[in-house]
Amino acid sequence: MSRNLIIAANWKLNKGPADAAAFLDAFCVVAKDFKGTADIVLAPSFLTIPSVVTKLDGCDRIAVASQNVSEQESGAFTGEVSTCMLKEVGVQYVILGHSERRSIYGESDALINAKVKKTLAAGLKPIFCIGETLAEREGGKLESVLTTQITDGLKDVADLSDVVIAYEPVWAIGTGVTASAEQAQDTHKFVRSVIANLYGQSAADAVRIQYGGSVKPANAAELLGQPDIDGALVGGAALEAESFFGILENSA
Ligand code: G3H
Repeated sequence: MSRNLIIAANWKLNKGPADAAAFLDAFCVVAKDFKGTADIVLAPSFLTIPSVVTKLDGCDRIAVASQNVSEQESGAFTGEVSTCMLKEVGVQYVILGHSERRSIYGESDALINAKVKKTLAAGLKPIFCIGETLAEREGGKLESVLTTQITDGLKDVADLSDVVIAYEPVWAIGTGVTASAEQAQDTHKFVRSVIANLYGQSAADAVRIQYGGSVKPANAAELLGQPDIDGALVGGAALEAESFFGILENSA
């Protein structure tokens, strides 16, 4: 089954509206002749999203994601942002369960599951992140950790058509140490087998699984050339237009 690549820039806590506009000015120059077919997604901070959507007006090629969302609909939840608000300003994808949300902000599989369901119910597409720590991998817990994250994070999600999975080994995020193409492919294959057990083979064949963790132009082609790797979720190397474009170019 052929799955279209999805390459996403997660800007994390970087880029206000002015920096984002400068990025887009540079990105549009380098990307104007891009012939690849990959879906391109930018995930700015909540505050920067509206200006990015406005600047991208008419550029259907690039979708916008948020980096989080509330599991609540509305009401007395100070500091939260709802799926309705995201839809209203033109967001299409929502990154959920990122390891930084899990480890720094204590998000549990149950909370992430509630957010995934809220996101889908609003007609938005979750980019559902999973990944193991180095201690878990070295302790032989890779498969059990990922299986639990998938099973609990996607509990009561009946249809995966609008879900993108991002496998991000925690030890490779922002460290410069990427998983080898072989390690990444083996793990993606395992993740797909877990999905096959839960949802059947055709859903597993269709679901897109991104790799994240120190992806850069120099390693993108090898990683994205693996049969079970369907894109990338990029942090540091997506902060500069040339570098993010270099990853896209190496995906084509
Ligand atoms: O969401 C992106 C990942 O956390 C990867 O970040 O490319 O800086 O390692 P990184």
